[in-house]
Amino acid sequence: MAGEEKDFPVPPPLASHGPARVIAMCNQKGGVGKTTSTINLAAALAEYGRRVLIVDFDPQGAASAGLGINANELEETVYTLLMHPRSDIRTVIKPTALENLDVVPANIDLSAAEVQLVNEVAREQALARVLRPVLDEYDVVLIDCQPSLGLLTVNALTAAHGVIIPLEAEYFALRGVALLVETIDKVTDRLNPKLRVDGILATMVDMRTLHSREVIERVREAFGDKLFATKIARTVKFPDASVASEPITTYAPTHSGAEAYRRLARELVARGDAA
Ligand SMILES: Nc1ncnc2c1ncn2[C@@H]1O[C@H](COP(=O)(O)OP(=O)(O)O)[C@@H](O)[C@H]1O
Ligand SMILES: [Mg+2]
Repeated sequence: MAGEEKDFPVPPPLASHGPARVIAMCNQKGGVGKTTSTINLAAALAEYGRRVLIVDFDPQGAASAGLGINANELEETVYTLLMHPRSDIRTVIKPTALENLDVVPANIDLSAAEVQLVNEVAREQALARVLRPVLDEYDVVLIDCQPSLGLLTVNALTAAHGVIIPLEAEYFALRGVALLVETIDKVTDRLNPKLRVDGILATMVDMRTLHSREVIERVREAFGDKLFATKIARTVKFPDASVASEPITTYAPTHSGAEAYRRLARELVARGDAA
């Protein structure tokens, strides 16, 4: 397949950090690899010396848990920041076991935000406001969205410069993407003119099957260059790593899955979509 063998250069070290490029990891379908891609792309970028902040923006808190943070025990999470404009994001940010990688955790409290934000002024801009004070300290901010196109996801899209759409390599997965693109277009039109789709990331790919190859061909027909050359293969190492609450890049550093997310990080930088 064209582009399959192409690699991307290792990004040169950065002399200084920020301002961050904010990327929302979005797909209203659950179980497509949003959280896995957020954690592992972030870990790979951090390995390359990028300062990365993950914003857990799903009440399930899977990104927090996947980085070893028990968000259920926390008083202050992203929910606090959204609902209390005078709260300080720096007191909520948690370091992770990885150098250069921090996280704003979430827990089930966040499920109330969708309803509570509705009556707020500038309700779509709440997350953008929360992030503003620390954007100069990071190179990349990755927002792990919940599986919906509701107000929280609109907040993520309003705070973002770019969107990455993880897409499971299954026929039915393609159906929802048109609706997501429609939402992205609306947000671009009404709230955030700088927003763009950075790319579609094929996840859970099995290139040995005709099915996977056909789905990827369809995505390429529909989205052209927006499809990342890097594909993420299906492997049990990803669930294994999340049980261990670690990115695959530290859990199984030499595994092809770890190398795939490093390659994605290199591709993102080579495209100019990250520092
Ligand atoms: N490339 C992959 N191969 C195999 N399993 C994967 C892969 N990516 C993610 N998974 C697993 O699939 C499940 C859903 O992934 P997750 O990243 O949580 O999706 P989402 O955040 O979109 O709901 C998790 O159990 C995860 O460990
Ligand atoms: Mg998730």
